[in-house]
Amino acid sequence: MYLRNAIKLLALAAPGLVASISSAPLSTSGRWIVDSDGNNVTYAGANWPGAAEAMLPEGLQYQSIEYIVGKLKELGMNVIRLTYAIEMIDDIYETGADVSIKTSLITALGETNGTAIFEDIIKNNPTFSENTTRLEVYDAVATECYNQGIYVHLDNHVSKAEWCCSTTDGNAWFGDTYFNVTNWHRGWRYMAEHVKSLPGVKSIGMRNELRSPDDDTALADATYNWDTWYTNMVENANQVHAVNPDLLLFFSGLNYDTTLSPIPTASDLGNGTTFKKTDFAFSDKIVLEIHNYDNSATSCSSLESSLVSDGFDALETDDSDIVNVLPVVMTEFGYLMDNTTHTEVYPTCLKEYLPSVHAGWMIWVLAGSYYIRQGTQDYDETWGLLDHTWENWRSVDAIDNGIIPMVEASLG
Ligand SMILES: *[C@@H]1O[C@H](CO)[C@@H](O)[C@H](O)[C@H]1NC(C)=O
Ligand SMILES: *[C@@H]1O[C@H](CO)[C@@H](O)[C@H](O)[C@H]1NC(C)=O
Ligand SMILES: *[C@@H]1O[C@H](CO)[C@@H](O)[C@H](O)[C@H]1NC(C)=O
Ligand SMILES: *[C@@H]1O[C@H](CO)[C@@H](O)[C@H](O)[C@H]1NC(C)=O
Ligand SMILES: *[C@@H]1O[C@H](CO)[C@@H](O)[C@H](O)[C@H]1NC(C)=O
Ligand SMILES: *[C@@H]1O[C@H](CO)[C@@H](O)[C@H](O)[C@H]1NC(C)=O
Repeated sequence: MYLRNAIKLLALAAPGLVASISSAPLSTSGRWIVDSDGNNVTYAGANWPGAAEAMLPEGLQYQSIEYIVGKLKELGMNVIRLTYAIEMIDDIYETGADVSIKTSLITALGETNGTAIFEDIIKNNPTFSENTTRLEVYDAVATECYNQGIYVHLDNHVSKAEWCCSTTDGNAWFGDTYFNVTNWHRGWRYMAEHVKSLPGVKSIGMRNELRSPDDDTALADATYNWDTWYTNMVENANQVHAVNPDLLLFFSGLNYDTTLSPIPTASDLGNGTTFKKTDFAFSDKIVLEIHNYDNSATSCSSLESSLVSDGFDALETDDSDIVNVLPVVMTEFGYLMDNTTHTEVYPTCLKEYLPSVHAGWMIWVLAGSYYIRQGTQDYDETWGLLDHTWENWRSVDAIDNGIIPMVEASLG
């Protein structure tokens, strides 16, 4: 306890001293993510959303970026999954310039509330002003993370900026109402170039939670399959890699990214297509990502075996059925941040399983509240590590007994 407090004080007093991530890119070696010195890197961190209507990283009306990143540091975490909407980049192409945060907040929240939230943001983050753009806020988050020794995993969460996800929200699948594939590739080429000046950004999640586009049953029937997945995901990976060869490229799966089951075994994806790591010129940049929200699980062994068959078997280096040995990261899981839920089967199982297989993870979610979610402004996030005003932990008990031990088991 004494030691932990001493380390906390040191971190608060002189973040520069404890910050230590290299500006060099990451790559993969077998089932490991490795840094440029060949050391294993395991991600242990949290999601920081920014893909809703305001298209801004959440929480800045309550705290400074520096304070929020410092809270992650307090937990010993080493990564954030920072989400963005392709709509932000579409706006840049359509108008020739990024939108200011003030305008974006007014569009999302209305004149009165948007202006008030904007003023609170600049009060907490005085380097921002009326002319600060959305992407400049992303840059400031990524820069502060780098300065405090936190990796940034940039995630394309949605096309149209809104709360994610449902099968009928128009963001579900390639070619869905708002999911213009051309614009998705364009948005990623733009971001791949843009993040070259941000050394904290090491990896990207190409698309969050692909799912059946049930608002368009003809599209779903004709294209919701692994073969279509392969065509679109590989094309995006090729385009990003051509622009920025440093980035790790995370491939998410189907059914809300709960399964990548045919990938580790290189099974037929339909019409004879197979995913083979060796087919990629950049095979040392490929990572798999999986989400899991089996919150009502009653058996850890059955949860573990479904995770293995859903794609964590890519970690199994000595199983001859595994053709594609790759790192696997659980980029979303989460639970109610109260004093008891963390003791249930699902949280305790993941807390034990993910570190035991040296898999990376990001919990959903750091956010204590959202500017707006599903039409409600200042929406309270009961799964947030932070409380409503992003100041303190929502449940000290869950942090001390659920989160910190999981970080220590992964990184210790
Ligand atoms: C990475 O971890 C594996 C398993 O613990 C170990 O065998 C390997 O030596 C590690 N690599 C480095 C560079 O520490
Ligand atoms: C504006 O903010 C106030 C105070 O937070 C809130 O009560 C109100 O519902 C908001 N307006 C809209 C349109 O959500
Ligand atoms: C914002 O930009 C306008 C037009 O370029 C300029 O007149 C104004 O001084 C800027 N405001 C701030 C706070 O920098
Ligand atoms: C996608 O957006 C582009 C503009 O970038 C447009 O030209 C194209 O028609 C759109 N595609 C579809 C299928 O709507
Ligand atoms: C196989 O290819 C045909 C023709 O390109 C396509 O319509 C069909 O959806 C594909 N099937 C699968 C399972 O990918
Ligand atoms: C958790 O327990 C603490 C201390 O007993 C209490 O103050 C707090 O209100 C509880 N938090 C929740 C979210 O139940």
